[in-house]
Parts: sequence; C-alpha cells; structure tokens
Amino acid sequence: MLSIDRNLENSGHQYLSQVDDLENPPSPNQSLLPLTAKVNKNDTLEIGGCDVELLVKRFGSPLYILDEFTLRTACRQYREGFANHYSGESQVIYASKAWSCLAVCRIIDSEGLGFDVVSGGELYTTLQAGVSSDKIYFHGNNKSAAELELAVESGCTVIIDNWLELKTLAAISSAKSPKPVPILLRLTPGIECHTHEYIKTGHLDSKFGFDPNQIEEVFSFVSGQPALNCIGLHAHIGSQIFEQQPHQDLADVLAQWLKKANEYGLPVNILNIGGGLGIRYTETDDPPSITNWVKAVSEATESACHKHQIPLPKLIAEPGRSLIGSSCVTAYTVGGNKEVPDIRNYIAIDGGMSDNPRPITYQSLYRSVIANKMSAPMSRNVTVAGKHCESGDVVIKDANLPETEPGDILVVMATGAYNYSMASNYNRIGRPAAVVVNQGEANLIIERETYQNLLERDRLPERLIDFRV
Ligand code: LLP
Repeated sequence: MLSIDRNLENSGHQYLSQVDDLENPPSPNQSLLPLTAKVNKNDTLEIGGCDVELLVKRFGSPLYILDEFTLRTACRQYREGFANHYSGESQVIYASKAWSCLAVCRIIDSEGLGFDVVSGGELYTTLQAGVSSDKIYFHGNNKSAAELELAVESGCTVIIDNWLELKTLAAISSAKSPKPVPILLRLTPGIECHTHEYIKTGHLDSKFGFDPNQIEEVFSFVSGQPALNCIGLHAHIGSQIFEQQPHQDLADVLAQWLKKANEYGLPVNILNIGGGLGIRYTETDDPPSITNWVKAVSEATESACHKHQIPLPKLIAEPGRSLIGSSCVTAYTVGGNKEVPDIRNYIAIDGGMSDNPRPITYQSLYRSVIANKMSAPMSRNVTVAGKHCESGDVVIKDANLPETEPGDILVVMATGAYNYSMASNYNRIGRPAAVVVNQGEANLIIERETYQNLLERDRLPERLIDFRV
C-alpha cells in the first residue's frame, strides 16, 4: 500500500485503495473505490484504465461503471478462501439479486462460481448467460407453479421455503421429472444480527423458511417423497453484516439440523450458510475481509461438525453484496444548486432514487467524489439531491465535496449491489446505461432506456383514443 500525500488527504484521493501490487490485491469489500481506481494527469478519476469523464462523454450519465478486475478479485478471494480454509468440498454461489444481467453472470460464471436466483426472471437471465443449471439454486418464499416448472425443466436445485412449495414441487416432479428433483430446505435459524430491520432474515419473525418447530415434520414428509432428493439445508441471516459471530452460530445450528436430517434417512450433505458479509460504504464501516470471513465460517463449520460428530458437508456460501458491491460506481452530471442560508446547500444530479433507491429505502449512507477534480480539497458540506419529484430523494446528506459547478462529474461509490437491480422508472426516468471497464477498454453491458423504451409495454385501448367527455 502507498501512503497519501498530506496535501491530498482531504481530497478524492483518500478513497483510492492505493494498491501498488495488483497481483496481491486487498479485499474489495474493504475498499470504497474499485481496486483499479487511479487519478490521471488531468486530475480525473480513472477506473479500469478508463477516464471517467470520457466515459460519461461517450455513454452519457447517469452511468454505472463496473470494474471487471475488482469483481473477479472478489470471486477469487471467496473461492480461494474456501479452498485454503475448509477441508471439505465447498462452492461459492453469487446471489444474483444483487445485480442480474448477462455480462455480470458471464464474468462470475467464468470465475467458476455458481448462482442463487430468486425468480423466474433471474433464472432465465442466468441460463441465457450460459450458466449450467447444475450450478444454479432457486430461492424464494413464494415461487409460482410456473417458476417451479421452469426450475424442474432447467434442472436446477430448488431451495424449498415452505409447505405449499414442498407439496407443489413434489407433485410437479412426480408428473414431469424423470428423476427426483434436487432440493435444499430453508430453515429459520432464530439468529439475530445487527443490520437494518428490512434486511434481517434469520430471526424467528421472518417470512422466510421453515420455523424450527416444523423441521422434524418436514424431514419426515420429505423422506417419504421419492420425487424429491433432499441434499442439503440452507439458512440466511441477513445482509450488510460486519460481525462474524452470527454466521459462526449459524454453522452450529445447521450442523445440528443436518445430523437430525440424517436420522430421518435424508442423504443431506450440503450446508448453505447464505450470504450477508457487509462492505465499506463510508470510512467508518469496517467489515472483515472476504478471506477472514471465509476462514471464520469454515473453521466454525468444521468445529461444529466435529462437536456433533458428523462428516464435513459440502459448504456453500451465497454472497451478493460483498462480491459485486465495491466493484461499481455511478457517475452523474452535476446540475444546479440551491443555497438555503444557514441551513443547507443542495447540489442536484441527473439521477437519484430511480437508479439508487437504497438511501430512501434504508437510509443508506454513501460517499462521493468529483471525478474531474480529484485533488481539490473537499472543503464544502453539501447535500446531493436527486432529480425526482420527492423531497426524500437525497442521495447523500452532508457530503464533503470540493467546489462544484454544473457539468462536473459526481461519482457515488460502492453502487454495484442492489442499485441497478432495484432501479425503477419512477417519474418515467429511463434506467441508466452500464459499462464494464478493464485495462482501458469500456464495453456497454446495459443500454440506457430511451423514451421509446418507456412506452414499449404501454397499450392504448382503441376506445380511449378519440373519446372526449
Ligand atoms: N442468500 C439469500 C437467501 C438472500 O436473501 C440474500 C440477500 C443473499 C443470499 C445475499 O446477501 P448479501 O451477501 O448480498 O448480503 N436490497 C437490500 C439487500 C437485500 C438482501 C436480500 N437477500 C439492500 O439494498 O441492502
């Protein structure tokens, strides 16, 4: 790591990961800007060897800029972490709800990871990206019969969430599948973790998974279903978690249940401990590195298996945010400003809650830089407002930024997870384009939505066309 020049400490340079050796990169989830971020001779931010200002000139704004190197690094650190720290078989599967599109699926598939999908749409995207169905796990608390049929036809593994789904899938499998459908059972482990209320899932009062008091009944039912092949158990406790203890506790709970499942004659030998590792959005966020997290859950699983005297299962983790969150930024163009004396200075950008709904939904915090003024002192306290007709459409409250003027490029960091995937067309604003950057090359991976695109699925019934009261 290089140190920052004193004069630049209070500038955009503070967010660079200062990587001097890309052969041995730091953990992406601990970095605010993608690992390849640099400041070039024009004092402009460069990602993946591409000048961000030029990217905006070429592709427009807002623009999601995905750094392939950072994404691949996160994939490798997860995969190698398990290979180094877990003695049994392991598999890392990407929770594609974080960002599902063809290019992202291709990159992650090429790194040897599997996929978690939660809807027919995510399953379809993943299959279209060329992912083999034996690497796909289908989640969701209310999969429709059509989605279950698609799952059976495609040959993926289904993670069963509840009784209705269990019975529906057993019927579909008996009628349509030549061989038993592989399933995992999702259980609610009753583990609390410190994160936003909306993204906790492991506590008992959760809509996901079988309640612990139903488990034996479920094991007994499944053991009598020749059309289902129950190969594993799953639990997910929440998202954006910095503590390691909840996942260590989870390993113990799942190991106990695995032993119980085996007592019912189920050939269960997969434990899927979900995702949840957090990332750095602000300087005060301090998540464990990917490698340390993997080591902690691997050791906890091994010691739980030892304690409960069961052989080591295949261990699956399904990270989303920590795989892709830190590899992307969103570039916006600065518009006007409004000074409210003694209260607040607003600067407006050309996007907001429709391309990043996390601040308004979860009060999430973000940091930003002015890409074309990376060395300028961040001497102003401003509020970065989106362009939507809603007072709450504030991307960053109290941001430290240099003096800005209309046309500057404001970059919000760590927007790879749950930004594009949660984007909307609120106010009939088209969703932004996305590019992947790598070694000076930029490729469009998602086109910007045009006005025409916004109307593509609108239908105007004939009787309304000329009707006037
Ligand atoms: N597995 C399951 C079953 C999940 O429900 C999730 C996330 C993951 C894995 C991946 O979790 P991650 O590694 O990304 O923490 N929209 C929210 C996050 C919702 C997370 C939903 N489930 C946000 O923007 O913070």
